[in-house]
Amino acid sequence: MTATNTCIVGLTWGDEAKGKIVDILSAEHDVVVRYNGGNNAGHTVAFEGETYKLHLVPSGLFHPNVTCIIGGGLVVDPQVLLQEISDNEAKAKGLRRRLLVSDRAHTIWPWHKKIEALSEKHLGKGKIGTTLRGIGPAYADKANRVTAIRMGELLRPDHLRPKVERIVRQKNEVFTKVFGDEPLDPAAVWDEYVAYGEQLAPMIADTTAWLLRALADGKRILFEGAQGTLLDIDHGTYPYVTSSNASVAGVWPGTGVSPRVIGNILGVVKAYTTRVGEGPFPTELTGDVGDQIRKQGNEYGTTTGRPRRCGWLDTFAIRYAAAVNGLDGIVITLLDVLGGLPELKVCTGYTVDDKALEAFPSDPVALGRAKPVLEALEPWPDDISGARSFDALPAAAQAYVHRVEELVGVPVRMVSIGPDREQTIRRD
Ligand code: IMP
Repeated sequence: MTATNTCIVGLTWGDEAKGKIVDILSAEHDVVVRYNGGNNAGHTVAFEGETYKLHLVPSGLFHPNVTCIIGGGLVVDPQVLLQEISDNEAKAKGLRRRLLVSDRAHTIWPWHKKIEALSEKHLGKGKIGTTLRGIGPAYADKANRVTAIRMGELLRPDHLRPKVERIVRQKNEVFTKVFGDEPLDPAAVWDEYVAYGEQLAPMIADTTAWLLRALADGKRILFEGAQGTLLDIDHGTYPYVTSSNASVAGVWPGTGVSPRVIGNILGVVKAYTTRVGEGPFPTELTGDVGDQIRKQGNEYGTTTGRPRRCGWLDTFAIRYAAAVNGLDGIVITLLDVLGGLPELKVCTGYTVDDKALEAFPSDPVALGRAKPVLEALEPWPDDISGARSFDALPAAAQAYVHRVEELVGVPVRMVSIGPDREQTIRRD
């Protein structure tokens, strides 16, 4: 792959194993910057027999020459961030010196997690099925402005105290009067967050200015998206989405860097589809084959442990995601998981009331009614996780990749056949 600025973006509903791909491509970049979401994300990196699970720190952390940046587009739970730094710093050498957190990033507070839990419970069957990490309420406060607190403000305790008191007073009205729940103690929360601010102070910076300088100096930047395009608040399957721009659309607001500097936009997708939480999923498999995929792929959430819903690869949705992102290439992950399935299908389009749809539906009701048009492909019985070249894959697995390229109209640049760095076949 040519040395350039790259963006890694998920093409479906998250969990596409982007963390592994970011880790691999970090070796060819100087900077890795996360641009959206928060600790709702679960990124897994595996090498030298160990597996690391990350939620906030960019997946480039294990490369000692890489600067890791948490961009202004994130919502940061400072407690989770500090825990993640201390959990990983033995392996991620010098992490505290090469991790920067944007002073523009917004912060997640106990009231965000509390209101989300109360609201999801109140919604019952109509819930979104969120990760309950306070992500949506923190982004809602960002849009509301007067009830939001940015990372930079954690460094000004005297300014923070009356602000926290005012916000908690307002939030407690809702907790006690609307939900009949317990109020929060503003002084205790303020104390806790001032202590987080003191610990994070050396890492909090104007990362927009830092990134623009790095670009001017010719540094190569890798933009790391969390979640996936179908969870994007604007382009995803609204309202069953996350609260940030998970597609490439998030780069600009999330970093301050124009997407025009990105020379290579790579979309990551599993060889099948999964979804956690509620919302329509046209290719979902609710029977034995879905269970077999869940078992073989160990499809349980990295963040919440919830079993993921599993289904066939949906090239109709991926074609939409490829167009929205302006993809240069696709990365197919977990191809090995399909080995040994009794049958293999891909979705090539949708019908509603027997009429073929021309475009991926924007309306969740239409998407819920869409029936997938399925094409059967030849399955392969083999374990392919030991292959180290494309030619070493069984013919049926190669044909599967070629068919995806044809249906989506974008070349497949990489194929991942296991969690380890070594289990990656590059085609660039
Ligand atoms: P939230 O981001 O916690 O508000 O959750 C909104 C929706 O996005 C729910 O369906 C979550 O399961 C889903 N979601 C959020 N983050 C991820 C992720 O990293 N992977 C997969 N699904 C996610």
